Amino acid sequence: MSSIEFVKLDKVYKGLNNFHAVKGVDLSIKDGEFVVFVGPSGCGKSTLLRMIAGLEDISGGDMYFGSRRVNTLAPKERGIGMVFQSYALYPHMSVYDNMAFGLSLEKASSQNIDEKVREVAATLQIEHLLERKPKELSGGQRQRVAIGRAIVRQPNVFLFDEPLSNLDASLRVQMRIEIIKLHQRLKTTSIYVTHDQVEAMTMADKIVVLSQGRIMQVGSPLDIYNSPANTFVAGFMGSPNMNFIQVTANGSQLAAATCDVPRSFEVPFQHQGAATLGIRPEHIELTPQPGALQLECQVSVVEHLGNETLLYLNTDVSDQPLVVAVAGEKSMQIGEKLSVYLPPQCCHLFDANGDAIARLATTKPN
Ligand SMILES: Nc1ncnc2c1ncn2[C@@H]1O[C@H](COP(=O)(O)OP(=O)(O)OP(=O)(O)O)[C@@H](O)[C@H]1O
Ligand SMILES: [Mg+2]
Repeated sequence: MSSIEFVKLDKVYKGLNNFHAVKGVDLSIKDGEFVVFVGPSGCGKSTLLRMIAGLEDISGGDMYFGSRRVNTLAPKERGIGMVFQSYALYPHMSVYDNMAFGLSLEKASSQNIDEKVREVAATLQIEHLLERKPKELSGGQRQRVAIGRAIVRQPNVFLFDEPLSNLDASLRVQMRIEIIKLHQRLKTTSIYVTHDQVEAMTMADKIVVLSQGRIMQVGSPLDIYNSPANTFVAGFMGSPNMNFIQVTANGSQLAAATCDVPRSFEVPFQHQGAATLGIRPEHIELTPQPGALQLECQVSVVEHLGNETLLYLNTDVSDQPLVVAVAGEKSMQIGEKLSVYLPPQCCHLFDANGDAIARLATTKPN
């Protein structure tokens, strides 16, 4: 088990065009914590994982496991178990040998190896597959073997790089729950990279949102959802994305910037000048709310998802359609006119730099 700390961590890929992939990252990961890295493609998630594993050298700053500085520690000394999207199993070896391989390199006794492989195989319910080759397995079974191979060595830290992205939706859910249960049992410090918002929200003790090699926000899933630190996090986390409206603030009065007739309403925070108002699709109401901003809209697209209906509405407050999520089924005609209501306590406000003005924990009224 191990805590991990990054201090001003930097990574520059050297080459014809040096590429600064990780920029001054400070992060503390507690012993036993399950941390999820999210961010757009190319933001440096895999680079950070590979730096933790010792597979990429560190260009600047320091990395600690507990109190030990590990900048130059060899990968095999780090006690890391890594699971990749591609599984990376040895195709010519049986499941058993794939799982035993790391232990045999460590010169464990064959009895010890056998006990561990069978114990882990039982946990992952792959005992009946031990004699098969990887090509004789389904994607989900291969992924279990890849996880098993990482577990048998009892690592201090697990690194997962999008381990479930090759699986179909229902298997993803099943494996996600298995990984959560495994973590509850083993309590091994884990860092998990994913593009999947639901995985990030449901698995993480702590989410780290990255953009272009920098940390945008660190927080619990509900912190990140309720109090995004800036427009990047607000727009990235949450599906469908948060709506943004350009406004002008005068104290707690906001007026939409694009309206011919300024319409203003009051929010529970103060600002002067240009700002961006953010509101999540699920927080916009179709019925009047106390103190809410009423917007007149016209339906442009309706998406029926079964459990909810997404309405894309044209308004005079933004060039972008306002997206509203309504629970259940809602029948609406294209071109239909309606009013929607933005409750002030659900509104986020960001300054001209995109930073949150008031880190209110916005909540949907009951
Ligand atoms: N060996 C390398 N040499 C030069 N640049 C690299 C190298 N590996 C990665 N990069 C660059 O570093 C940046 C971060 O890459 P990284 O693989 O960490 O992204 P990522 O967040 O894991 O993205 P994805 O979600 O697509 O896997 C990218 O812009 C990538 O092009
Ligand atoms: Mg990656």
